[in-house]
Amino acid sequence: MTMTMARAARLAIAIALAAALPLAACTKAPEKAAAPVAPAPLALKTTLLEVMRASVEIPADGIWAAQSAEKLEDADWLLVEQDALDLANGATLMTLPATGKDDAMRQANADYAGWAADIQKTALELRDAAKAKDVMKLGAAADHITETCQACHDKYRPQVPSDGVARYPFYPARERKK
Ligand code: HEC
Repeated sequence: MTMTMARAARLAIAIALAAALPLAACTKAPEKAAAPVAPAPLALKTTLLEVMRASVEIPADGIWAAQSAEKLEDADWLLVEQDALDLANGATLMTLPATGKDDAMRQANADYAGWAADIQKTALELRDAAKAKDVMKLGAAADHITETCQACHDKYRPQVPSDGVARYPFYPARERKK
């Protein structure tokens, strides 16, 4: 009888302890509450060549067309602004790990990153010039963009496109619809 009571008491203590431990852990938890994890940005799923053709060349062509236009109407300035934004974003895409076989090798270089950053910076200056309808600044930005494309191409663009398909412009022009 005595043995049983002693055992029962030990058991009661054990149960109480077992219950108390997780409780203690629970009361501490809020102090260490994990900060909410932000969703990761989407990875780039295309090659650098595809970025060049679709997201860099198209807005750059629009900018150069505006540069050589005799007169720019309000709608033309809005298109310069749009092309400037597309090109600034295209510059960001140039730096995201791309899927072409030689892309990582190119993107690992500081001069490559520097030229991409230069395109982004100049495109944003061009956005401001478009808002101000400043023809001089449009010309200067467009010229600087040309030089920067060329600098990076001189070093990193192969003679033949990496998919072997040479066609310029790669995508046909289209009339923009309202
Ligand atoms: C930071 C480096 C870099 C900059 C800046 C850059 N490019 Fe490129 N570009 C490349 C590389 C690398 C390739 C070759 C891609 C391949 O063949 O895999 C390329 C290829 C191209 C192609 C060839 C596409 C084809 O079908 O053969 C065009 C067009 C192009 N770039 C346009 C531009 C324009 C326009 C600019 C400036 C607004 C520019 N690029 C700025 C790195 C750059």
